[in-house]
Amino acid sequence: MGKRIALAALLVLFCFTVGNIFAEGASEKKASSAGKQIVVGVSVGDLRLERWKRDMDLMVAQAESMGAKVYSNSADGDAKLQLSQIENMLTKGINVLVCIPVNGKVLAPAVEAAHRDGVKVIAYDRIIEDSDLDYYITFDMLGVGKLQATYLLKKVPKGRYYLLAGDKTDNNAKLFREGQMMVLQKYIDNGDVKVIGDQWAEGWLPEKAMKLTENVLTAVNNQLDAILASNDSTADGAIQALIEQGLAGKIPITGQDADIAACQRIVEGTQTMTVYKPLPRLAKAAIEFAVNIASGKEIKTNATYKNGFKDVPSVNLDIYAVDKTNMIDLVIKDGFHSYDDVYKNVPAKDRPPRP
Ligand code: GAL
Repeated sequence: MGKRIALAALLVLFCFTVGNIFAEGASEKKASSAGKQIVVGVSVGDLRLERWKRDMDLMVAQAESMGAKVYSNSADGDAKLQLSQIENMLTKGINVLVCIPVNGKVLAPAVEAAHRDGVKVIAYDRIIEDSDLDYYITFDMLGVGKLQATYLLKKVPKGRYYLLAGDKTDNNAKLFREGQMMVLQKYIDNGDVKVIGDQWAEGWLPEKAMKLTENVLTAVNNQLDAILASNDSTADGAIQALIEQGLAGKIPITGQDADIAACQRIVEGTQTMTVYKPLPRLAKAAIEFAVNIASGKEIKTNATYKNGFKDVPSVNLDIYAVDKTNMIDLVIKDGFHSYDDVYKNVPAKDRPPRP
């Protein structure tokens, strides 16, 4: 009898041990810190524009692929709401926070609250100012502006330029403009370029950009030669105003973000170029950073950005000027948009060969 009990006990111990090994194996697939599954907070400021929807989806997918749990939400352009959403995430318990600020000037309290809970904060493509921000992951902002201005000058080396910037509260909008002027200023000074309009579109919203452009076109009686638009949503609004005046496709206009609608406008000829910032790479890098930080691993940076409080350790990813000549090689071959989506309004006989 005693032998049977001992055998049964050994059998139970064996099953328990094997079960644990499998459980460990499963949990090892989860991104873990101190044996617990890592929880990543993803706070997105605004999903009204296409690119941020892509960013959020890509980040959530990357986190889940790494076995981390994700709490994500959008503040829909409301800076106060974003702060309270972040506080709620901290209450629910996150190990690290990735944040795309609505307004980087008002989120320092969110960084302080996160640090009180031992949570590090990574700003994503928009910096959080005047705070002890831990990391910033982005693209070369000044480089975006330089690419846009350089491209437009090649198309319109002399003429009347309308400068259409983004939201004044977005530090990026100022950096794009700073980069643009690094290229443009000398052509303004020598008289080759005359600035006939300079506007900043609230919230980067197409409807705001459209109204501003209508006003500029009226003021100059449609006498302009180029539009330096800082991103695709503002270019969208400006092009709608150009369409009203029968000028769409006749006035070169820049953009940024490689939105699908912008890529379609580029191959159809109403928008001239966009700056492609490979969001899949940005989202992957941000989440890998977050999981590594939460796991206590060392992470490498390649730049710093001043945020009014410190030089924030940062990472700059590469950017690319895209027009109809390289749309396939850069945007489509990168898998950011499909050939059929980009060329859907172009008659098959006029399309370049499918890659
Ligand atoms: C900026 C960002 C741009 C563009 C814009 C509109 O902060 O750097 O790529 O997306 O917001 O949302």
